[in-house]
Amino acid sequence: PLHRINIAIDGPAGAGKSTVARMVAKALQYIYVDTGAMYRAVTLKALESGLPIEDNDRVGRLANELDIVLLPGVDSQRVLVNGEDVSLRLRSLEINRSVSYVARLETVRARMADLQRRMALEKGVVMDGRDIGTHVLPNAELKVFLTASPRERASRRFRELGPEAGITLGQLEKEISERDRLDQEREIAPLLQASDARLIDSTGRTVDEVVEEIVQWGLAAARTILAEEK
Ligand code: CDP
Ligand code: CDP
Repeated sequence: PLHRINIAIDGPAGAGKSTVARMVAKALQYIYVDTGAMYRAVTLKALESGLPIEDNDRVGRLANELDIVLLPGVDSQRVLVNGEDVSLRLRSLEINRSVSYVARLETVRARMADLQRRMALEKGVVMDGRDIGTHVLPNAELKVFLTASPRERASRRFRELGPEAGITLGQLEKEISERDRLDQEREIAPLLQASDARLIDSTGRTVDEVVEEIVQWGLAAARTILAEEK
């Protein structure tokens, strides 16, 4: 009935992008694409192969050869790499610590952006990451930059991991800010709010409130496009 649009959601770690993007996609019956999972999958394979993770040529070649498929599920997205389901292995502390180095590599970014653009050719996609609004989908009809205070983002992550993870809240906060710094300071497609992105600071706000706000913006954007076409 309504015109389908693409929605880009970017922001720092723990801002709530995946949680919110998944629920927005569900509400609109869109496809959710978690681009962070793709950088994590390349990192997993690079670590497994014992490659130096800052080597653009070698990790880039690996990224170009990997067959990465995202399978949208009802509640969680599955990630297949060369046919193997690696979904449950992507969120380890080791990958958290290495992924931003892999994500700095030019060849890796070019390959991921290419795959991501193809996934969004048919509109009706909610894509979350760091450079979706600025670089991957600069023409997305709705762009959101989602953030929250560093302390709140770290506590959210801490709650998810639980005490068994063997990391303190303080350490986690340090690791998250280090990853944010690497993501913001890298040369290619850094983490940045697009000039036409709407900012949401979710500090002290519930998931449902944030989802509802984005869904309403999405519906409004779709209506505007429909009206312009008539
Ligand atoms: O879930 P969390 O926010 O901790 O991380 P993620 O979204 O899974 O992304 C992991 C890492 O991948 C980020 O810290 C970035 O280094 C990289 N990434 C990126 O460079 N560009 C994207 N579009 C998505 C993720
Ligand atoms: O993808 P990103 O790293 O931005 O964040 P996430 O993996 O979605 O993790 C955010 C965590 O904060 C989840 O446990 C959410 O339930 C929680 N949260 C949120 O996302 N938004 C709020 N407004 C409040 C809490």
